[in-house]
Amino acid sequence: MIVRTPPMGWNSWNTFGPNINEELIKTTADAMVENGLLEAGYNYLVIDDCWAERTRDENHRLVPSKEKFPSGMKAVADYVHSKGLKFGMYSCSGTLTCAGYPSSFQYEFIDAATFAEWGVDFLKYDYCFKPQSVRGDLLYKRMGMALANCGRDILFSACSWGADKTHEWIKTTGAHMWRSTGDINDSWQSIKDLYDKQIALQPYNGKGCFNDMDMLVVGMNGKGNVGLKGCTTEEYRTHFSMWAFFNSPLMIGCDIRDMTPETKEILTKKEIIGINQDPAQRQPFLACEYWGTTAWCKELEGGDLCVAIFDLQEYDITPFFIFSDIGLDRSCGVRLEITDLWTGEDYGVFRDQFRSPKTIKPHECMMLRCKIVHE
Ligand code: GLA
Repeated sequence: MIVRTPPMGWNSWNTFGPNINEELIKTTADAMVENGLLEAGYNYLVIDDCWAERTRDENHRLVPSKEKFPSGMKAVADYVHSKGLKFGMYSCSGTLTCAGYPSSFQYEFIDAATFAEWGVDFLKYDYCFKPQSVRGDLLYKRMGMALANCGRDILFSACSWGADKTHEWIKTTGAHMWRSTGDINDSWQSIKDLYDKQIALQPYNGKGCFNDMDMLVVGMNGKGNVGLKGCTTEEYRTHFSMWAFFNSPLMIGCDIRDMTPETKEILTKKEIIGINQDPAQRQPFLACEYWGTTAWCKELEGGDLCVAIFDLQEYDITPFFIFSDIGLDRSCGVRLEITDLWTGEDYGVFRDQFRSPKTIKPHECMMLRCKIVHE
């Protein structure tokens, strides 16, 4: 199975933590379709930790919680599939999951077979309670082999938070995406920390195995399991722009059955999702940092460029970049025709440099699509 663009979907953890059940999963599946999220590209619905009984059955198989999932996982998977969605689940490479439930250490092949039987299409695989004596990379390789031999295409989503130099070995494991950093929480500080840590890891991202910056907090507004303070709409827009621009998987973490119009607008913004799902999946590069303006550039399929400008300061900035900083000196004889991907505004054709006609506020961003035109 080859994954060519960052996976997109919804995951239960950020908002619901342990409070999950089949009713939540079914109504979320309904909402993914009714609110246009599936159409926008979000096709994986993933149940995170806390779904299992505390003990395995007599055949050493994992058992779904009878209280939370009385109909069993196959029935839940069938429902999710009936909506045109794919179904994801969670386990862990150690002796217990992060929340203390039975985990897959030394049960990898049995569990992969069970997941395949239930109709699972995606497995998030965590890193808690790893025995000290065992190498982490071997545990991910082992589950990678179990999944590759289970008879079903299952997307392997590794979640070792970048620990033990994950970037050096993750592509030996069969993983299709890997958590490159620690857990997100619903605050600007957390978003900014994950952005900072991602910069050095960009060279490891690419088609086939994507750097996962963690589930989105867009629309949580301070509610839920990783709630904390919440962010402003502008901060959520910047967060979404960063994850999209850096080719991270886009896994929604809010309650999508109850989204504000702003949340829905951000999560379904076609032009920004297009930057994330660009078929070329090229690596972004830092173009310049002037007077508080941080400008990044990414080449897109077909020849256009995306320039992302972030205000990471605590003061207003005028978005700005010089074309020579992205490799386009005056001698190239080209200009850039620039449009704003969030507002749809056409800023016109520029030579040598772009200076935005408007300022942006702290934590806001400007996502620009630049078309190269000949003079
Ligand atoms: C870890 C992961 C989270 C979540 C929890 C569940 O902290 O990084 O994303 O899956 O475990 O317990």
